[in-house]
Amino acid sequence: MPGLLHNHIAVVTGSGSGIGRAIAFGFAREGAHVAVLDVNGDAAAAAVRDIRDVGGKAQHFAVDVTDRAACRAVAAEVAGKIGTVSVLVNNAGINRRNAFVADADAVIKDWEDIMAVNLNGLFNITHAFLEPLRASKGRIVNIASIQSFVHVRTPNSPAYTTSKHGVLGFTRALAAELGRDGVRVNAIGPGFIETPLNEKVRASNPELIKIFLDHTPLGRAGKPEDIVGPALFLASDLSAYVTGAIVMADGGYRAI
Ligand SMILES: NC(=O)c1ccc[n+]([C@@H]2O[C@H](COP(=O)([O-])OP(=O)(O)OC[C@H]3O[C@@H](n4cnc5c(N)ncnc54)[C@H](O)[C@@H]3O)[C@@H](O)[C@H]2O)c1
Repeated sequence: MPGLLHNHIAVVTGSGSGIGRAIAFGFAREGAHVAVLDVNGDAAAAAVRDIRDVGGKAQHFAVDVTDRAACRAVAAEVAGKIGTVSVLVNNAGINRRNAFVADADAVIKDWEDIMAVNLNGLFNITHAFLEPLRASKGRIVNIASIQSFVHVRTPNSPAYTTSKHGVLGFTRALAAELGRDGVRVNAIGPGFIETPLNEKVRASNPELIKIFLDHTPLGRAGKPEDIVGPALFLASDLSAYVTGAIVMADGGYRAI
């Protein structure tokens, strides 16, 4: 039986690590040819090797999503080497945990860096792949957060919360505009997922885990694989009449 993404070409940004890497694997397993994009070219290449080892189709591309010209160049490269992209997962993202009242230089740097990757990067890549996505009546899946709605009580930067509210706003704006072209645009709202993004804070601040788990009905932290099912749903025909939505994959965090 053909996979859910048979005949699709999928771009996943930040797929050298964590959630993006798991999504790239899940998409390849379901038949997509996956373009693994990451600023860390070695990590992207390693992900591609592992996907190919289990019989999947993938190619890696090193790109910094904050660089608009590089995003345009990689879109042309993907078109030339693989073909017309029909699925885009905007997953690349960073976080820092300085409070707004922390050292001013640190707060300003956090703001600039987080906006550059989480919002400008989202814009740059989506704009670069707009043509093939319209031509293929494609699907865009943006990785948002519980912080698209709330500022979590654990140490966290206002910049991250602001950026993830922006991801949801962008999702809704594009869903409204691109629906008539047959392009669907949705988001996923992960809760606390154990990835390299939060490795340090998990090691240094067990209290943080406790605060999350106390507020999570399923009583455990998430794994990158927990995001694969929602991503497959939103990228495939299973969600043919779904656009402008956010699927929460947060163990129930936002429900209580
Ligand atoms: N881990 C969580 O708890 C959690 C929760 C909610 C949302 N998210 C979001 O999920 C996404 C993935 O996070 P993760 O936890 O897998 O993190 P991660 O650090 O494991 O992976 C992020 C990947 O993005 C890449 N990246 C960073 N900056 C980039 C840039 N400028 N250009 C291209 N690639 C870049 C990194 O090299 C890395 O491979 C992020 O958008 C994050 O905000 C994570």
